Amino acid sequence: MFQRFRRTRLNKHLRALVRETSVSVNDFIYPLFIRSGKGIKTEIASMPGVFQMSIDEVLKECEELKSLGIYSILLFGIPDVKDSIGSDSLCEHGIIASSIRAIKEAHPDMFVVTDLCFCEYTDHGHCGIIDMKTQSVNNDATLEISGKQAVIHAKAGADMIAPSGMMDGIIETLRTALDAAGFENLPIMSYSTKFASGYYGPFRDVAESAPSFGDRASYQMDSANRREAINESISDEMQGADILMVKPALAYLDIVREIKDNTSLPMAVYNVSGEYAMLKLAQKHNLIDYERVMMENMIAFKRAGADIIISYHAKEVAKLLNSK
Ligand code: PBG
Ligand code: ZN
Repeated sequence: MFQRFRRTRLNKHLRALVRETSVSVNDFIYPLFIRSGKGIKTEIASMPGVFQMSIDEVLKECEELKSLGIYSILLFGIPDVKDSIGSDSLCEHGIIASSIRAIKEAHPDMFVVTDLCFCEYTDHGHCGIIDMKTQSVNNDATLEISGKQAVIHAKAGADMIAPSGMMDGIIETLRTALDAAGFENLPIMSYSTKFASGYYGPFRDVAESAPSFGDRASYQMDSANRREAINESISDEMQGADILMVKPALAYLDIVREIKDNTSLPMAVYNVSGEYAMLKLAQKHNLIDYERVMMENMIAFKRAGADIIISYHAKEVAKLLNSK
C-alpha cells in the first residue's frame, strides 16, 4: 500500500496546519552601513535598496524599521580616515562609537548589534594587524586591540557584539575584556564559521573594505571543509559565545544543519551581499518571481536550523509578512 501524501496538501488550511517551518519578522537582523556627514544616503550600485547613510539618515531609517516590526540592526562603520591598525574603531569619537550612541539615544528600543572587525578601518583592508614579515594578519596582535574595540562598542551602548574577523581565540579575548569592564551581561554573537567567499563581493563595495593585497584565505575558512566548519563553531561555543553563525548562507546550509545538530546554542545565518545581489539582478531582468524566491530562501534558512537571519531582504520580507 502506498501513502497518499496529497491528502494533506489538497486544502490550504490543512497545508498551514502541517507546515513545519515558518518565518517571522522577529527572526531578522538588518545590516546598516554608516559614514560621517549629514543627509547622505547613497545607494550601492551592486546592491539596489542598500545604502551608505549618515547618522541622521540612519535615525530616520530606524523609524521605518520599527514601523515594519524590525527592531534589530547590525552596524558597520565606514570611517573617514583609515590607517594600519584601524584607529577609528578604537576611538570613542570614531564613526562606530558615535553611531551607537546616537541610535541608542534616539531609539533606546532598538537592539543594536555591532560588527567587530578591522577591515573597514584599515588602509590595507585586512581584518587585523598585518605582520610585515609574513604579509598576513597577526592573530594575537589583533586579539589585543579587539578587546579594546569591544569595550568601545559596549561603552557606547551596543546591545550585542558580533566579531567577524575569524581570529583564533577571539571569543575568549572579548569575553574576558567585556567582563573586566563590567559588561558581563553583554552577549556575543560570533561569526563562528565564516568562509572565504566570493559572495562578499558587493559588501566590499558598500563597506569599502576590499583587501589592497592578497586575500582572506589565511583567516577565513576553506569552503571545502565540513569537519573544520563544525570545529570552528564548537570552539567558539566553548570559549563562551552566546550565538553561533554560519556565513555565507545559501551555499552552506548543510553546514548550518550539522552545527545545529552539534550545539544547543541559538544559530544565525548571514544571507550575504552576493546572495542578495543575484536575486536583485534576476528580479530586474524578470527572470524569477522575486518575492517567491526570496521567501523560499528564508524558509530554507529556518529549515536548515537557523534561528536568526541577517539579511538585506529583511524590510521586504517584513512588508510581505505584514501584508498577509
Ligand atoms: C567583515 C565582514 C564582511 C562581511 C561581514 N563582515 C566581509 C568580508 O569578510 O570581507 C560580509 C557581508 C556581506 O557580504 O554581506 N569582516
Ligand atoms: Zn573583516
